[in-house]
Amino acid sequence: MKIMSVVGARPQFVKLAPIAKAISETEHEHIIVHTGQHYDPLLSDIFFRDLGIPAPDAHLGIGSGSHGVQTGAILARMDEVLEQFSPDCVLVYGDTNSTLAATLSAVKLHYPVAHLEAGLRSFNRDMPEEHNRVLTDHASDICLAPTEVAREHLTREGLANRTVVVGDVMTDVLYEVRNQVESADQAAAIADLQLPDSYYLATIHRAENTDSPERLREIVTALSNADKPVVLLAHPRLRAKAAEQALELEQGSIVLRDSLAYPQLIAAALGSSGIATDSGGLQKEAFLLRVPCTTMRRETEWVETVQLGWNVLANSTTEILAALTRPAPQPTTAAPYGDGHAARRVVEVLSERIPLG
Ligand code: UD1
Repeated sequence: MKIMSVVGARPQFVKLAPIAKAISETEHEHIIVHTGQHYDPLLSDIFFRDLGIPAPDAHLGIGSGSHGVQTGAILARMDEVLEQFSPDCVLVYGDTNSTLAATLSAVKLHYPVAHLEAGLRSFNRDMPEEHNRVLTDHASDICLAPTEVAREHLTREGLANRTVVVGDVMTDVLYEVRNQVESADQAAAIADLQLPDSYYLATIHRAENTDSPERLREIVTALSNADKPVVLLAHPRLRAKAAEQALELEQGSIVLRDSLAYPQLIAAALGSSGIATDSGGLQKEAFLLRVPCTTMRRETEWVETVQLGWNVLANSTTEILAALTRPAPQPTTAAPYGDGHAARRVVEVLSERIPLG
C-alpha cells in the first residue's frame, strides 16, 4: 500500500514522526508532502532533523496568506501531486488549512482519506481550526480518533461507522523524546538553554489571542506580573502581531525566546514550574509530563486534562495569574491519550480498511 501524508505546520511534523517510523517498519510505501504553510527553519526543518523524519517527496512552497489564499493555493497544487504519486490513501493531520485543502483535493479525485486526530471539537465556530476539523472529518473516509471523547463527538455527528479510536500519536513521540531527554543529561540539556533556575514556560500563537490587541495586552500583563520569570517562546505570528500593535513583549517577568526545537521544548517543559499556553499540543504534553498547565482560552478540545485537574482555563489577567501560581494538582495515573503505540495502530487500521470495503 502507498500511503501519502500531507503536512504543513509545526504540530503536524510532530505527529508525522511516529507515523513515518511505524510505516517504515512495514512493507508499505510512504510519500510525504509538505505544503510549505510553515517555512521558517525553526518551525519546520529542525523538526524533520530532530525527529528523524525523511525529507518530503514533494514541497508545495505555499507560505503565508489569508485563509482563502493559503487553502486555495494548496488545493490548486495538490491535484498534480496526487496524480503524480497516485497513493492508495491520503493521511491528513489535525486541523490546519493544509489539512482541509489536502482533504478536499483528495476526495474530489476519489482518493481515500484518513483523518488523524479526528473528532476534536472546541464548539467555538470563530476558530479557523474548528471549521477545518469539522469539514475534514465529514469529508474523510476514515476518522482516526485519539480519545473516547472524540469518538462520542463523531458518533453524535453520524460518523460512527467511519471512526476508529487509535490513541494519540503525540503521546508516542512525547514518551520517546522524554526518554531521550532524560537519558541524555537532562541537566546539561537545560543548562544549554540558559533558562532561569525557576521559571514558567509560556507560548501564545492562536489568532483569537494574538489578533485582538485587548486580549493580547491582557495576557502579556498577566505573564509580566508573574511571581517568577516566564520564558515566553515567541511564535512568528506573536512577534508579527505584537509589532503591529506596538506592544512590547519583553516586560516585567517575561523573558522572550525564539521557538524551541522539540527535544529542547520537552526539556524546558520538564524543568518548568508550570506552563501557560494556548497550544493544543502543549496542553497535552504538560499533562503527560505532569506539569500544571494554564490554558489561555475559553475552551479546550483536550477536556480530559481539565477534568483530571492538571489544566485550568484562564482568560482575564487575574484568572491567568491565579491559575499560574495555584498549588500542584492531585497525582493521577489516568491515561486518556493512549499507551504510546497509536501510530502502529493507525497503520494497522489503514491496512485493514484500504481499499475501502
Ligand atoms: C497554524 C494553524 C494552527 C496551528 C499552528 C501551529 C491554521 C488555520 N492554523 O497557525 O492551527 O496551531 O499553525 O503553529 O492552519 N509565519 C512565519 N513563518 C512561518 C509560518 C508563519 O513568519 O513559517 C507567520 C506569518 O506572519 C503568518 C503567520 O505567522 O502570516 C501565521 O501563520 P499561519 O501558518 O497562517 O498560521 P499559524 O498561526 O502558524
